[in-house]
Amino acid sequence: MLGSAMALAACGRRASSQPPRLPGPGDLPPLKRVAPFPVGTCITASLLDDPSFAGFVASEVSQLTPEWELKMEYVVQADGSYRFDAPDRIAAFANDRGLRFFGHTLIWYAQGPDAFARLQGGAFRDAYAAYIAAVVGRYKGRAVAWDVVNEAVAEDGDGWRDSLWSQRLGPLEHMRLAYELAHAADPAAALFLNDYNLESNPRKRATFLKLAEALLSAGAPLTGLGTQTHVAADLAPGAITAALTDLASLGLKVRISEMDVSLSRASGGDLERRQAALYAEAAEAYAALPAARRFDFTLWGLRDSQSWLRRENAGDAPLLFDDQDRPKAAAAAWELALKGRT
Ligand code: XIL
Repeated sequence: MLGSAMALAACGRRASSQPPRLPGPGDLPPLKRVAPFPVGTCITASLLDDPSFAGFVASEVSQLTPEWELKMEYVVQADGSYRFDAPDRIAAFANDRGLRFFGHTLIWYAQGPDAFARLQGGAFRDAYAAYIAAVVGRYKGRAVAWDVVNEAVAEDGDGWRDSLWSQRLGPLEHMRLAYELAHAADPAAALFLNDYNLESNPRKRATFLKLAEALLSAGAPLTGLGTQTHVAADLAPGAITAALTDLASLGLKVRISEMDVSLSRASGGDLERRQAALYAEAAEAYAALPAARRFDFTLWGLRDSQSWLRRENAGDAPLLFDDQDRPKAAAAAWELALKGRT
């Protein structure tokens, strides 16, 4: 099936002496054209300087997420002031091209800038509230949704992470408050809780679901759950489907929020085929969720050279398109899994 889809994509009229033509950017329909749900990618503002890449992105996806320029690490300056030049560019590009804009991310254990850490008591709480109000308020009416709290579950799935935010405002309270503040700043935005390894670690998934329930019981206006889906190509078949089914059981919206399938982090053979099969499984399982539960399927980049995983291993190729924006077997498999569903 897969092989034949790629063969079809690769086959052009050619003289017999010429080598077979590799599939090009136009050889598969755009991802968003075949999907019955919004398709997204992350992006950095500097990638928009390349008009051909910007055009490629706008033709493939219907939603953009800033990869890191809407995180505190970028937004919060040493003196506590904010900068929004880069995320503003991404939001403007999305707006100009009719793409949705997804805000990522407000509260993340991994980032606790000094500008916050040096504050105490009420001043800390005020700065926390001011930050969420300013960031969400700035994109009010332009961002469809936010990752309000990112990666709150401990690595092994045992409880919640300790962070500057949990220490100062309380383990559950800092999260509840973040949802309340984000909702007040933009009542129309969907508000997500996002985490990783929910496919490979069912124990972490159970804790994640319990956290979502605790937030709802505490009155947090949480509207959806995101599973990052940073997986390796040797992930067991069925794990992605099981995770999506479990997450959907809570009745909130569910999104695949940052998918990539690493070859370098996997062991064993046949990794490209297994990578394609995992992308196909994710597309099929996501499409099988009730329409009211779906929000978007976001890829953590389109072309391999754009991937954050290249910094860990320069030979990794975790995305749907190669360095020349040519669709890989994984792209064909992802589309094939959705055939007939639009
Ligand atoms: C990563 C980005 O891809 C990198 O460019 C950045 O330096 C660090 O963060 N989970 C998340 C994302 O929620 O924000 C991370 O993105 C990948 C893991």
